[in-house]
Amino acid sequence: MLDNKVIHKENLKMAPNLEDYTATSKYFTYDRYIDELVWFDHDKINAAYNAITKNALGDRKNKIAMYWEGENGESRKYTFLEMEEASNQIANYLKSLGVSKGDRVFIFLPRVPELYMAFIAILKIGAVAGTMFSAFGPQALYDRLDQSQAKILITTSELAKRLSTVKKNLPHLKRILLTDKGFAHEISMQPKSLHVAQTNEDDDAYMLYTSGTTGKPKGVVHRHKAIVYEYLTSKWVLDLHESDVYWCTADPGWVTGIVYEILGTWACGAATVVHAGRFDPSVWYSIIQKYEVTVWYTAPTAIRMLAAAGEDLIKKYNLTSLRHITSVGEPLNPELVTWSKKVYGLPFHDTYWQTETGGILMANFPSVPIKPGSMGKPFPGIIPHIVSDDGHLLKTGQTGNLAFEPNWPSIMKKLWRRPVKYESYFMRVKDLANKRVYLTGDQAYKDEDGYYWFVGRADDVIKTSGERVGPFEVESALIAHHAVVEAGVIGKPDALRGSIIKAFVVLKEGIKPTEALKNELSEYVKKNLAGHAYPKEIEFIDKLPKTRSGKIMRRILKAKELGLPIGDTSTLEEY
Ligand code: WTA
Repeated sequence: MLDNKVIHKENLKMAPNLEDYTATSKYFTYDRYIDELVWFDHDKINAAYNAITKNALGDRKNKIAMYWEGENGESRKYTFLEMEEASNQIANYLKSLGVSKGDRVFIFLPRVPELYMAFIAILKIGAVAGTMFSAFGPQALYDRLDQSQAKILITTSELAKRLSTVKKNLPHLKRILLTDKGFAHEISMQPKSLHVAQTNEDDDAYMLYTSGTTGKPKGVVHRHKAIVYEYLTSKWVLDLHESDVYWCTADPGWVTGIVYEILGTWACGAATVVHAGRFDPSVWYSIIQKYEVTVWYTAPTAIRMLAAAGEDLIKKYNLTSLRHITSVGEPLNPELVTWSKKVYGLPFHDTYWQTETGGILMANFPSVPIKPGSMGKPFPGIIPHIVSDDGHLLKTGQTGNLAFEPNWPSIMKKLWRRPVKYESYFMRVKDLANKRVYLTGDQAYKDEDGYYWFVGRADDVIKTSGERVGPFEVESALIAHHAVVEAGVIGKPDALRGSIIKAFVVLKEGIKPTEALKNELSEYVKKNLAGHAYPKEIEFIDKLPKTRSGKIMRRILKAKELGLPIGDTSTLEEY
């Protein structure tokens, strides 16, 4: 039963796009909604056409698509028509450089307008867009550009410096375009019109590298047809109406910044606010006030930091434009939902999804009561299962592997050149006549009202400030340092950031385990791998716990760190 902690809906400022969750879910088929998107003949569809061109050719052409707020208070705005023409010019420039369908074009940019225009441009010509977070260092960049065999990289002269040591080992990378050097001039000479590629619904649109427990990051590829799901989830979960000024605080180096800052948002005709600067509570509130933001999508770490900044700060700003606020990326503490209801007059709505799912799978919908702490309910058409390790269905209330029937348009198409790894995401469920389901790597349970509750990761993937980090990459980066023999990396629970990265390091013989060396190692990873994926804590140890086959048992490192029972050690080598 719904208890008294539930937040019931009262006084929604606007009729939600999804008024009746239960009825819509019951009768849901994609066929009912696909005509809300523009298709070319023979089931062809282009995601960028649906995000920008459709609007630029219609009544929304002079409507603002993007409000851009720079780091130092400078600002610009672009209509759909301006986005259309600018992206066409970039597309024509890329074509003139020989980019054709299926070629990978990567973007390594801070949140500048060119990032958004280039992303759209790449999809418009049927090439595959890859984005890389601006905190990445040489190793992370090399891994992605090498594995994807990217042909063109769009970056700035400042960021391009991080490639200086690895560029020579990237034979497929034909050109590096610098947005601050000659780019604007080249673009300005290009025609503003373009024949958008009539891509097949299954053609590759964009790819994003993401981390698992083992190995290098994998290139998750999404297809053009995903726009159907990107659009519908933006409409029903984020509740985007064309009149909305919507602010997604994610970076397009991550999936949220692509799907819900660019594609889904614009397919709904809403205006996107882009803030190029860093997190700062006062600046964030001033942006909401300045642009009269109506819908906001952010992450629990940021919300915890806003809560820590206090209520007096909130009182200095007029935030009454807000009407719907949403969260993603890590568990949203129930206290933050009740806190936001108190201070903003609106509860945060948690949403759950992954890079691989390409769109929100579970959500707290505007028209459905919220149970604070729950991820909410499945999106219409989505069929979740809680499955045991040996392929049986678990009952209501039992925790197990969160799995989904792979039936929605934005599920990853493939992992770039990793077919075996791709298959490892799926398992057969005995109680469902051996049906194949997609495994998220997360553990969850369902309650008696059909709400899902996140319990934790089933693997060693770390979420730090909502950003996904694979322990293997950090371990590899540490081992590259001359003082290190071995390293084991875990996520250590942290009240503010969800987790912080902690490394257990075995030093070479004769090397002194000093505090200075800890700092040096942290800095080393920060510089070589990524600015966000370095160990905040390092502990030197003599030996790592390993299985008899030599795999590091991070689970044991974690249990020791937290003072928990170590559990089953039957596969452990003598320790
Ligand atoms: C975690 C981000 C709890 C989860 C869009 C998932 C969450 C991983 C939630 C994907 C949530 C995401 N509650 N955990 N609402 N949303 N996660 O690929 O572990 O960066 O598997 O995609 O984040 O992270 P990714």
